[in-house]
Amino acid sequence: MQEKLEEIRRALSAGIGQVQDRKALFELKMKYLGKTGEISALSKGMRDVSPEDRPAMGKLVSEVRSWAEELFAQTEETLKKRELEARYKSERVDVTMPARFAETGTLHPVNIVRKEIIECFDGMGFEIYEGPEIEKDYYNFQALNIPADHPARDMQDTFFVTEEFLLRSQTSCGQIRVMESKKPPIKILSPGRVYRSDSDATHSPMFHQMEGLVVDKGITLCDLKGILDEFARRMFTKETKTRLRPSYFPFTEPSVEVDLSCHNCGGKGCRICKGTGWIEILGAGVVNRRVLENCGIDPDVYTGFAFGMGLERIAMIKYGINDMRYLFENDVRLLKQFKD
Ligand code: PHE
Repeated sequence: MQEKLEEIRRALSAGIGQVQDRKALFELKMKYLGKTGEISALSKGMRDVSPEDRPAMGKLVSEVRSWAEELFAQTEETLKKRELEARYKSERVDVTMPARFAETGTLHPVNIVRKEIIECFDGMGFEIYEGPEIEKDYYNFQALNIPADHPARDMQDTFFVTEEFLLRSQTSCGQIRVMESKKPPIKILSPGRVYRSDSDATHSPMFHQMEGLVVDKGITLCDLKGILDEFARRMFTKETKTRLRPSYFPFTEPSVEVDLSCHNCGGKGCRICKGTGWIEILGAGVVNRRVLENCGIDPDVYTGFAFGMGLERIAMIKYGINDMRYLFENDVRLLKQFKD
């Protein structure tokens, strides 16, 4: 038995040196100190030892047991420390490293222009109205004096959802919706997305417009000119002038096309204004009597003016962008230039 004890000591000392982790240590511990382990087996074997040798042998066995228990406890401590150190090493954070740079977004140029126009008209007492993008043929065309088969529909060919519903081709539908629900005085600004079946460097199937409508007693084309002069000065430069040219829209009479003196050359003629000194920016006119009648407003008592402009176009003029598609590609190299 004594020999057996020596053998256990030797084997255990050698075995424990091989142990790399706590799982292996536990297995080894079970092999010796577990219920059916080698040291436990020796305790059980005491029965076969003669009564006179029993006390001495018992002492030896319990010495080996305490030694083994102590050895396992110490090794466990060492392994625990080693594991913790390895973890500290692998999870180490270098607090002196530079932080990862988080990009911040910017307002899209079309949104910048939208915001600026709203601020400009807000100061003149206009309210904001936003209508639906899927619109009835009635609001987009018929009520605006564009009956079915009218040639003016050609200019605004759009996408039909059903025979009655379409993607609105202009924000002018907002004029009708507002005049139907509100009695004059009316002074609204209506921004929104519009759609047309058009696509090239200066036209996009989806773009943004801003509509303006003023209806009250005694409103004339002079009021339109005055308001647009103020708008041009605030939006571009103090020196910017406006010019009205005769035009045609079924829902305004008379109708005009509004040009701004070129903010780049001041009217002398340059690349941006194509040598003319003027840049066309919007369509406008005095609200057609028939449109007022369609909305139940007496055209002999009230008159009004309306205007509509494309936001992409204003952004292109203001920032010197020559292809509208740049505004929809969302290339961050372009967008970053609008960081304030
Ligand atoms: N809705 C017209 C267009 O899209 C612009 C316009 C608005 C003209 C208001 C006159 C009055 O071309």
